[in-house]
Amino acid sequence: MPNGPSRLARRVKLTDKHIVTRMMDIAAELPDVIKLGRGDPDVDTPEHIVRAGQEALASGATHYTHPMGLLELREAIANNIAIHGGALYSPEDIVVTPGGQQAMFIIALGLLDPGDELIIPCPGYNPYLQAAELTDAALVNIRMTRATNFTLTADLVREHITPRSKVLVLINPGNPTGTVIPSGEVARICEVAREHDLIVVSDEIYARLTYDGHRAQPVAALPGMQERTITLSGMSKAYAMTGWRVGYFAGPSDLMPALAEIHHAFAISTAAVSQHAALAALTGPQECVEEIRSTFDQRRQVLCGGLAEMGISFAEPQGAFYVYAKVAETGIEATDFCERLLKDGQVMIFPGKIYGDYTDDYARLSMTQPVPRIREALGRMARVVAAIRHEHSVA
Ligand SMILES: Cc1ncc(COP(=O)(O)O)c(C=O)c1O
Repeated sequence: MPNGPSRLARRVKLTDKHIVTRMMDIAAELPDVIKLGRGDPDVDTPEHIVRAGQEALASGATHYTHPMGLLELREAIANNIAIHGGALYSPEDIVVTPGGQQAMFIIALGLLDPGDELIIPCPGYNPYLQAAELTDAALVNIRMTRATNFTLTADLVREHITPRSKVLVLINPGNPTGTVIPSGEVARICEVAREHDLIVVSDEIYARLTYDGHRAQPVAALPGMQERTITLSGMSKAYAMTGWRVGYFAGPSDLMPALAEIHHAFAISTAAVSQHAALAALTGPQECVEEIRSTFDQRRQVLCGGLAEMGISFAEPQGAFYVYAKVAETGIEATDFCERLLKDGQVMIFPGKIYGDYTDDYARLSMTQPVPRIREALGRMARVVAAIRHEHSVA
């Protein structure tokens, strides 16, 4: 390895393994780890969707597609957005990407000049932080607190506006917090965006997964917002299709041709087989979405009940499939707690620090295992918590 300055570009801030990768390395050496870490549910892709993928392959869907995605799929996406109360999009203003994840980087590359400010809720989904770093944009983290159940408010956004503010990211329902911004507050946040001419990236990937009557308001459907909103979503969560890698973004006509060309240069097109499966997901029977949602709802109740029994408080989980729990209530910081739980209890959960949390108090538990495994994980966790509390009481 040559000495001297790093051979990496200055824009690369994450120069070593990420905590997630380190924890996965540790887990690989341990037996029978219960993984409540990554946002990748155990639920299998519904059968009719898998079959559509198989049939597409058998009938020759083995080539590049239109760079923006199959026209029928973009039409189905437009229809799906509209039937759930979203804005009306033309297929010309929709780009199908290999997961919503890649869309974040395309949007950041296409919209942010060095020094432009990207405002992001904190804690928030970490790839947005990396997208900002890799484009030399200035990150503006808005610290959310338990007082608003870790949701963004218009007042908080307003306090963080500067003349360099350009893009505001909304993640609703939130990851890692699993909380939903009340619709009235979304409308107020949009007023601030209009006043200050911000572009809003509205990440609605968990919108189909909400509980107890909560609903995530689609941003582009609000007055005056479609022209300044890029809606980002995908098939991974509602249709249990993480491994197929299909997502999309939809935005205003003046931005989409340029953003579509960045995507074209990145990927040429999203895998044809996955696009055919996505088409079957959106145009086929929709009961599977409700089945997936109610599966998570049951798990959510088990997880919350178990945490409450341990005396660990958490943000009220209203959407997505995460519980954001204040594990520091055990007496040690969340990062140490997660490492201890992995090594001593063989349960993997992720510390909030991964998501830019400014405290080391919280950890995210994913509902990515069936109820019996979640119960087993809670039992193991209770033993680790009791041991930590005992050590603290005798210290
Ligand atoms: C908030 C949020 N947005 C986008 C994504 C990207 O998902 P995918 O690339 O699988 O579409 C994820 C994945 O966990 C997420 O949590």
